[in-house]
Amino acid sequence: MSTLLPRDTNGCPFLILAPMEGVGDLAFRKAMASIGGFDEAVRDFLRVPKNGHVKSLASVYEPNELAPIPLAAQLMGSDLELMGEMAREIERRGATRIDINCGCPSNTVTGKGAGSSLLKEPGFLHEVAKSVVKAVSIPVTLKMRSGYEDISLFKENLLAAEESGVRYITLHPRTKVEGYTPPARWDLIAEAKQLLKIPLVGNGDILNVQDALLMLKATGCDALMIGRGSIINPFIFHEIRSHFSGVPFHSRWEDLLRYFNVYLASMPPEVVGKARVSRLKQLFGFFFKGNAALLEKRSLILTSQSTDPNAFFEFALPLLKENMQLRGCKKTKT
Ligand SMILES: Cc1cc2nc3c(=O)[nH]c(=O)nc-3n(C[C@H](O)[C@H](O)[C@H](O)COP(=O)(O)O)c2cc1C
Repeated sequence: MSTLLPRDTNGCPFLILAPMEGVGDLAFRKAMASIGGFDEAVRDFLRVPKNGHVKSLASVYEPNELAPIPLAAQLMGSDLELMGEMAREIERRGATRIDINCGCPSNTVTGKGAGSSLLKEPGFLHEVAKSVVKAVSIPVTLKMRSGYEDISLFKENLLAAEESGVRYITLHPRTKVEGYTPPARWDLIAEAKQLLKIPLVGNGDILNVQDALLMLKATGCDALMIGRGSIINPFIFHEIRSHFSGVPFHSRWEDLLRYFNVYLASMPPEVVGKARVSRLKQLFGFFFKGNAALLEKRSLILTSQSTDPNAFFEFALPLLKENMQLRGCKKTKT
């Protein structure tokens, strides 16, 4: 068992909240931490553009933001020197892990060769990863897709990453071109697990406990990372853990209410009025995707004309509450 990815005392694998730029911002991470159940979160990528000012770029990263849950930093860039410098600054700020982004489709700010573009050239991916590994004493890991346009360099990329000295790899088994469809290819996670000596974190399309168990069984991966499944159901980590402990888990309305309150309270103060409502709509939109009965109400939420966050909240929450028992949410008197 990896010491970096320890199982809990009941044998539940290490559970990681995925980085999700835009949706998975500070407010979301804090709201998720108020519910808990995951061992670690990864912050959405920090861009490391050429000629960037490392100190100011790194200043938005707060390792203790979710304390006691650790928050890993993720770097996206391709300038070897700057990536190393940025990694040192992130370590100085107190990070316990640095992850390298080899999956993001956008490279507008980071320049040629960053994010998923690194998958086009395993040799260069190796150099970028090595420059970060060499720069710091904390564990460095790497998160990748299965390829850029196709999976012809899949194995080369995995081995290039492993040989750079990263401590484990997280695999989201879709190419850059595939985006988020078709279904994630868990068979590639199984293939990677066979190939690698270092641990592997499985990621992609885990929406419920059954998916989590299936992925573990089908791939033999060492740990799980969950992104969209946690927006759809913030209790997913507790539900997975409960399977291993055998202690039934009942999500409660007051926990969900706290989640939304923390989300609202943690939004950036400069996001006001309509923009604030848009963020809430985005979150609710995901949340309502999770079950058929809620789905009927989704359009009511998304077409709400409210520009006042509190009014929107008051309108949307009862719709959610009415339907909570459908997801096994235990109703309490509130
Ligand atoms: C809105 C959004 C933003 C994302 N941002 C990042 C990111 O900053 N860094 C990263 O490595 N992956 C990012 N991802 C990919 C996720 O971390 C994850 O690999 C992918 O969503 C598949 O996992 P899931 O099916 O559990 O969501 C993002 C995904 C989404 C949907």
